[in-house]
Amino acid sequence: MRRMVQAMLLTPAPKAKILAIFGIDMRTCHLITGGAGFIGSCHVLRTRAAGVPVVTVDKLTYAGNLDNLCSLANDTKHCFVQGDIGNDELMAHLMRTHQPTAVINFAAESHVDRSILDPDAFVRTNVLGTCALLRVTLDYWYNLPQDHREAFRFLHVSTDEVYGSLCLGDAPFTENTPYAPNSPYSASKAASDHLVRAFHETHGLPVLITNCSNNYGPRQFPEKLIPLIICHALERQTLPIYGKGDYIRDWLHVKDHCEAIDMVLRRGTVGRTYNVGGRAERTNLDVVHSICAALDRLRPHSDGPYAKLMAFVADRPGHDFRYAIDCTRIERELEWKPRHTFDQGIEDTVSWYLDNQAWAERARGGQYRDWIARQYAGYERVGE
Ligand code: NAD
Ligand code: DAU
Repeated sequence: MRRMVQAMLLTPAPKAKILAIFGIDMRTCHLITGGAGFIGSCHVLRTRAAGVPVVTVDKLTYAGNLDNLCSLANDTKHCFVQGDIGNDELMAHLMRTHQPTAVINFAAESHVDRSILDPDAFVRTNVLGTCALLRVTLDYWYNLPQDHREAFRFLHVSTDEVYGSLCLGDAPFTENTPYAPNSPYSASKAASDHLVRAFHETHGLPVLITNCSNNYGPRQFPEKLIPLIICHALERQTLPIYGKGDYIRDWLHVKDHCEAIDMVLRRGTVGRTYNVGGRAERTNLDVVHSICAALDRLRPHSDGPYAKLMAFVADRPGHDFRYAIDCTRIERELEWKPRHTFDQGIEDTVSWYLDNQAWAERARGGQYRDWIARQYAGYERVGE
């Protein structure tokens, strides 16, 4: 083992900041990309709790936050590397050094509204970055001993948005629903899914893909609906609801998503896609009312109910009306089921943000304030 640490010190990773190198055998580890983000960090914490060593690679974009991994600060079986999945040299170096048994790819630009204003960033990471990661992984996998090749997995974390938009009464998305992405974000995720699938068909790389619905829970960056509403409500700011608020999403607690990823990684059929969802469709208005009701119970305000702050604002261009997931395959094949109900999950999430206001304050730095000013500037308050 000492030899391995020395090798890392003698061969510094190209253009990367390695925050920790440990004197333990990291072989059998998982390499998790995007692990400082919302879902990735939940998965890193879960994997470490299960005793599996982890190398986390994250570029630390505005959405990446090392606070999310602070409980692992003294964990000798976790290694954090600041780097880009598109950096071939770095990723090849990390694979050679740590010999992961699985690569789980969470790294992405993930916010639909930002993709409307800056699509190039989404193509760079979600398409080109994923392609580079696949190339490097393929090379690493080819050179593994036979038994390690058989056990190895590349799991790509994707979204239900690749399937497009549903009307009321349409059947939920299955794994056979044709792709019809509508935003630059979902188009870039769709492209990445196709690349992952193509590396399996062309080269036999043992891949798995998960397509999940909207996640919520602790540590979600406050640009997304649920944490944004909680943070705005606590500051007595307007709670912006796009259009008429009748858009529908299917909500899943982030811990349930990570459990599904674990099950797919361990027992999923190679080359397959698994849809993951909460069977919890809600309109955005319902979601915001639930958050306000939870706040009224947990942190009542002398000015009256939080719902008074709600306002309809200009809509998102090309806004997908409804997402709904049919997750029969993962339920039947892997016996996965969500453990959290939406009502309890929202209450717990509101509590988490109340208890972690310092986290939210640090996450919402200057760049965040600039984004909010740009995104919501001049938005009309259309009424309650
Ligand atoms: P997030 O924006 O909170 O986190 C993304 C992380 O990726 C950040 O830590 C960021 O720094 C990192 N990153 C970005 N570009 C990178 C690059 N080039 N190299 C390395 N790291 C990079 O996103 P999230 O909500 O946690 O989503 C994680 C994944 O799950 C994404 O692939 C997303 O498409 C998918 N997903 C999200 C949801 C959801 O509701 N949030 C639902 C389904 C699927
Ligand atoms: O469906 C899975 C996807 O869910 C993930 O792939 C994405 O990474 C994730 O960001 C999420 O996408 P959405 O666009 O559905 O999430 P968002 O939280 O941005 O918005 C949820 C709904 O709330 C959507 O209909 C837009 C609406 N909304 C959002 C914001 C930020 C508002 O009404 N007001 C807002 O201020």
